[in-house]
Amino acid sequence: MSGNEYGVGRLGSLADDSWVPPVIDTTRAHPARMYNAYLGGKDNFAADREAAEQIIAKAPEVRDLARANRAFLGHAVRMLAEQGIDQFLDIGTGIPTADNTHEVAQRVNPAAKVVYVDNDPIVLAHARALMAGHGMGATTIIQADLRDPASILADPALRGALDFGRPMGLILLAVLHFVSDEDGPAAIVKQLTDVLAPGSRMVLSHATTDVDPRGDAAVVEENQAEAVRVYGQKSVAAVTLRTGDRIRALFDGLELLPPGIASVYDHLADPDVRHHGVGIYGGIARKP
Ligand SMILES: C[S@@+](CC[C@H](N)C(=O)[O-])C[C@H]1O[C@@H](n2cnc3c(N)ncnc32)[C@H](O)[C@@H]1O
Repeated sequence: MSGNEYGVGRLGSLADDSWVPPVIDTTRAHPARMYNAYLGGKDNFAADREAAEQIIAKAPEVRDLARANRAFLGHAVRMLAEQGIDQFLDIGTGIPTADNTHEVAQRVNPAAKVVYVDNDPIVLAHARALMAGHGMGATTIIQADLRDPASILADPALRGALDFGRPMGLILLAVLHFVSDEDGPAAIVKQLTDVLAPGSRMVLSHATTDVDPRGDAAVVEENQAEAVRVYGQKSVAAVTLRTGDRIRALFDGLELLPPGIASVYDHLADPDVRHHGVGIYGGIARKP
């Protein structure tokens, strides 16, 4: 296993952060912990809650959107595992919550292998604690940055766990909007998909500037601007919302599976999740 070791002894409520290793900055909001706050988790600090609550105050639907994105993850991973995909590379993993990629995949196929990659040390700390506590099957966790795909692909732990000669599922959920235009998101995705074997799948979701024609464009645009402002000012990673066309372009060279690029709500068509317009697009594609 590569990456740093954090020696986390106690996890759970973070009301008391005396356990936190010094490498973890609790003074600035982090996307993983803000997302945890949207999902109602307890693995976040005051700075994360303050930033998340600022967005929730303006756009409370962000909580449903985060839940719908998680449900899309479960839906896509289950579908891929049922189609025979038995190895997954999940980049921008997030703090473990219910139905993580390895749990969904290994429920279908206990032999499925999963490699998690995130650049936030707290995600790694939680994932390792989970692995030590409950066992995670054939699961590997590495700390690396999506903006440096070459180092992800060269990681010896990843290379030892995944067989690039066979199809795998590349999972990029709600992470590419933390990659700025200057860092070249399309080139990053291309570098990652170029090395995948034919028959591999890519699952991607991404927050968008598109507005559902049924929605109130002025309100949605104001909420989007607020989210961009809050992440830009308070979080360690700014957010870049993109149009549906730009998100579709991330799938260049791949065959999109039905329903194509669609709101994560539309992928699920779950009557229990309220539809709040587009918000986050999701897509599942196959490498020819
Ligand atoms: C909104 S969460 C999404 C978590 C999970 N993929 C999901 O969809 O439920 C975004 C995650 O991406 C991670 N992340 C952001 N920028 C990253 C980067 N440049 N490299 C690796 N991970 C990154 C954050 O630390 C966080 O865990």
